[in-house]
Amino acid sequence: MKFIVASLLFLSAMLGNVFANEVNVFTSRHYESDIELYKKFTEQTGIKVNVISGEDGALQKRIKEEDKDSKADLYITADAGKLGTFEAEGLFQTGASSNLIKSVVPEQLRTEYWVGIAKRARVIFYDPSRTTPNPNLSYEDLSYPEFKGKIVIRQSNSVYNQSLVASLIENDGLEETKIWVKEFVKNFARPAKGNDRSQILAVAAGEADYAIANTYYIALMLSGEKGSEQEVAARKVKILFPNQKGRGTHMNISGAGILKHAPNKDNAVKLLEFLVTPEAQKHIVNNTFEYPIIDGVEPSPLISQFGLDFKQDLETNVSTFAKRQAEALRIMTEAGWN
Ligand SMILES: [Fe+2]
Repeated sequence: MKFIVASLLFLSAMLGNVFANEVNVFTSRHYESDIELYKKFTEQTGIKVNVISGEDGALQKRIKEEDKDSKADLYITADAGKLGTFEAEGLFQTGASSNLIKSVVPEQLRTEYWVGIAKRARVIFYDPSRTTPNPNLSYEDLSYPEFKGKIVIRQSNSVYNQSLVASLIENDGLEETKIWVKEFVKNFARPAKGNDRSQILAVAAGEADYAIANTYYIALMLSGEKGSEQEVAARKVKILFPNQKGRGTHMNISGAGILKHAPNKDNAVKLLEFLVTPEAQKHIVNNTFEYPIIDGVEPSPLISQFGLDFKQDLETNVSTFAKRQAEALRIMTEAGWN
């Protein structure tokens, strides 16, 4: 009898383990609001979300080292290049783009291995009290001598910049982009330094005329979350959306992929599908100030005020960023972009 009871207890413990209704998320997105989103998912589905946060490199190392024993189901990050690198390393499995996801996420923003969950625009910031830029300005134009000493941007080790230059290589070719980057670097107002917010601050302080940065940073500053000084500075600047006469403004993504050895693949797909629902998209855009990945959801008012009908570059497939990032970094470094 004792043996039977013990066996039953053992069996139920085993089953509990096998059928634990959970999903393990490895994420490099440092947003408290993402955790609130996972809670909503748990409330609706009963699936528990276990979150491991860290830098991309550290997460990738851990997943590789643990290999088949890895409990990671879903990897979430910002920048298509990082997703592409995971894909190239063979760390993802197919199946991320379920039929539901295919029906709402544009195909340029997903592959079989990963799916965009939000869009990010890399734009030009200027102070309208000092500068009146041509509204048809393109990234390509910023290499002209008339911009000498006027541009601030972060360093070449930023994946945001690598993806931007990768998109130029994709559209204009390697040789042309090599020439572009050499001339562009000559137009820096100072050696590249700081994060995206410090570029916007430099323009607000009159240290440069043009800053290149992602749009959500201005909303973050305007929201007051970064202190009143940054809020006041942010009110001085406006956004110019580049390449409106051509392919549109460079768009990158936050996205997610399902790991090769995911023990809870079905739940990972369910979480992915949840992340692209209107409810989840509203939560994302109002907390991180990114652009929605689906139609029918408006960005946060802090972002919408800069214009909603600008042309986004959705022709350039974001999966090309990863393929060209190494090339991009090489020509940036050769051109002296520190
Ligand atoms: Fe960022």
